[in-house]
Amino acid sequence: MTTEPVLRSTIAALADAAREKLPAEVFHYAAGGAGDEATVLSNVRKLDAFRLVPRVMRDVSEVDTAVDVVGGSLAAPFLVAPMGMQGLYHEEGEVATARAAAEHGLGFCLSMFGSRSPEQVADAAASQVRWRQMYITKDRRLNEELVRQAEAAGFDAIVCTVDLPVMAERLRDLDNTFQSFDNEVAAEASPALVHEPYFKELLGLWRGGHAEATPQQFIDHVFPHPGCGWNDLEDLIGLSPLPVIVKGVLHPHDAVRALGVGAAAVVVSNHGGSQHDRSIASIDALPGVAEAVDGAVPVYFDSGVRSGTHAAIALARGADSVLVGRPVLWGLAVHGPQGVRSVLDTLGNDLRNTMAFVGARTVRDLRNATILTEPGPHDPVFPG
Ligand code: FNR
Repeated sequence: MTTEPVLRSTIAALADAAREKLPAEVFHYAAGGAGDEATVLSNVRKLDAFRLVPRVMRDVSEVDTAVDVVGGSLAAPFLVAPMGMQGLYHEEGEVATARAAAEHGLGFCLSMFGSRSPEQVADAAASQVRWRQMYITKDRRLNEELVRQAEAAGFDAIVCTVDLPVMAERLRDLDNTFQSFDNEVAAEASPALVHEPYFKELLGLWRGGHAEATPQQFIDHVFPHPGCGWNDLEDLIGLSPLPVIVKGVLHPHDAVRALGVGAAAVVVSNHGGSQHDRSIASIDALPGVAEAVDGAVPVYFDSGVRSGTHAAIALARGADSVLVGRPVLWGLAVHGPQGVRSVLDTLGNDLRNTMAFVGARTVRDLRNATILTEPGPHDPVFPG
């Protein structure tokens, strides 16, 4: 696909352009993170610290980036990460993003708090891999409805995000008083969920005792769910006819527990640093989780991917596919659907080139790539 020259900018330049274009509170909501944002930064910096060692003369005239993931096959190992309220960045919201991903043969994960409904998104990305993300809330009926609706709409899997026992203090949002969708800027992009009949029914039931309650207050009442445990995940997996992928796992023991209760895959992620500051960088957690899982289920990765080379590093360190977060939002904000296509093009082309340089003809071959942390001035590059 050809892209206009104006779109051939780096992801960093797109982020700058998004900062110019978006209302300040929206940009900071997407770009910012928990606390002093050490983890937001270290996710990218740690990925940047790796170096790949090129291999030569390996006949890379055919490089195949295709992979299988839970729910189908992808043209390249990328899915759009679940990110709420994409109506903040473009009027079409998740419909534009999902369509762009599908046009590239890539996967899309719809956030529980997406601005567009599962039906709209499923239509936009028909025939491609579609995952529906949700949190386990305190309201089991809401959890059941979310699963039921995802299945009815044709989603291929549930992504259950487990790394949010409490909401972080996000200082940029506190400064901007941008903590919810109960405000003028976010109202248009409010989660499609709150307009669903089942949600209104549950809100009505709750309103019995809270006559004036708003949808936001009901959500705040049921989520997050700090009392949530492995038994709740097992319960969700038991009631879901769809495979359940567990997102937000960083400790190898947690990965093993997730497998034990029936997870179909795990996503190594620290939520892009947007929740727990001083969390281990996602790329540092990846090898331990991959080793503990030992091929029993796929291991996916996100947090900090800003280039195809970053993706290649994650794939080399044990990931089976990669989820892309903020860069997609910058593309959507600056150039609409074409911007999302451009970001996905850039990542895909960069990955393909990287594979050729390290002599990997398939994504699986990347596991044999030599990657090193950037050596200090006096460190031997190849120990021994
Ligand atoms: C997110 N993320 C997220 N994750 C999730 O499971 N459910 C959600 O609703 C959201 N919402 C959300 C909104 C915004 C604005 C951002 C930036 C992120 C986390 C997301 O899925 C992913 O883990 C991170 O975005 C990955 O980090 P990078 O690559 O964006 O830095």
